Amino acid sequence: MASQKVKELCQDLILNDEALKDVCDNLEEEINKGLGKDSNPEASIKCFPTYVRELPNGKEKGRFLALDLGGTNFRVLLIELGDKCTMDSRIYAVPQPIMVGPGDGLFDHIAECLASFIKERNLGDELLPLGFTFSFPCKQEGLTKARLARWTKGFKCEGVEGRDVVELLKLAIARRGDVRIKICAVLNDTTGTLMSCAWKNYNCRIGLIVGTGTNACYMEKLEKVELWDGGNDGPHQVVINTEWGAFGDNGCLDFVRTQYDINIDRESINPGKQLYEKMISGMYMGEIARQVLLRLISERLLFGGCSSDILQEKGSFFTKYISEIESDKDGDFSNCRAILEELGLDDVTDTDCANVRHVCECVSRRAAYLAAAGVSVLLNRINEESITVAVDGSVYRFHPHFHNLMVEQISHLIKPGIKFDLMLSEDGSGRGAALVAAVASRSASMR
Ligand code: GLC
Repeated sequence: MASQKVKELCQDLILNDEALKDVCDNLEEEINKGLGKDSNPEASIKCFPTYVRELPNGKEKGRFLALDLGGTNFRVLLIELGDKCTMDSRIYAVPQPIMVGPGDGLFDHIAECLASFIKERNLGDELLPLGFTFSFPCKQEGLTKARLARWTKGFKCEGVEGRDVVELLKLAIARRGDVRIKICAVLNDTTGTLMSCAWKNYNCRIGLIVGTGTNACYMEKLEKVELWDGGNDGPHQVVINTEWGAFGDNGCLDFVRTQYDINIDRESINPGKQLYEKMISGMYMGEIARQVLLRLISERLLFGGCSSDILQEKGSFFTKYISEIESDKDGDFSNCRAILEELGLDDVTDTDCANVRHVCECVSRRAAYLAAAGVSVLLNRINEESITVAVDGSVYRFHPHFHNLMVEQISHLIKPGIKFDLMLSEDGSGRGAALVAAVASRSASMR
């Protein structure tokens, strides 16, 4: 059992029903602002229309290439859609200097990986349609035009904000001159996740990512999208990429933010930005836990008041530790002890372990509840009888209780009468990208 004093100190990480209700109300208001023509320029949640207006019908066919940039790795994929979906892919690292170097360097790197994949797989003779999953906030001006609004998640390449990333990719490919491609769609990972699940699940209306970053997209009625400028022919709906990671950037979440959140934001590459994301996603959860642990140590409530050199280092408590520690069975601390040992903390008691676990639980529970608040707002907006939410991302995938915590909280927050389920969506950034490209060509041929 965690000690009483530790529980008291962690109290500010606990969100009660009333606070969560207020989070929902604020989010609803911010989404409305984002969708409004006049209010959008000031809105922190940008609600970008994606130009994806149809969901797949399960009959899509063909071979596609996909590029996936925006998580921890960059991938190139070859996807074959038919009755089943098969996939071949390769992961390439994005070295840290490229993540924060000049934009041309980043796009040259992407083009190089693509060229080597095409050569390795002998795809040079085919002109395959390509979907580009670029998981950063982009203002789309069409299915193949997306201007980067701002970098998030540790990327900061100069000369890209405000530019069309499809254009930058084409220029990089032209600089090499050794591959030909046909870019059919640019999309966010949330859209890919939604499409990938909607392929076989016709109730799917929301795509959610809780991974390195967090974000959600959903199918909205055109009449509610005041800023829509893409014409009024049917279908009268469009997928909206909310970019809800930026929720709170105008101060409206200050009532739930703690000193730990303030510290993390201050130390980050993008202070003042993505404040909701910084409370929820994998890039930050471990660091929040580390901050709390350091506080407990300084109050002599943990490890007899002794820290370790490693734990003092920023970023040393990985988010995956939270999942591992919470995977220990009740009363068993084997993962916890092994991790603490890795961090240079050998002489720990069972009470220390119980306290560390409590900190992890508070951090992950708060993240899950905040994400649940977001999903509830979208479910209530869509307001259909039965809605599937497609979910992906490392935190959702690997944390042992995240799914259950979210389901429990969403059930409290949604309107009676709405049934929902959260479904792990397999490979949104690959299959989803292929589906957006496929649906795009279907819609074009129907017009
Ligand atoms: C960040 C990005 C967003 C992406 C999310 C999940 O919030 O801004 O575009 O969907 O991370 O990867």
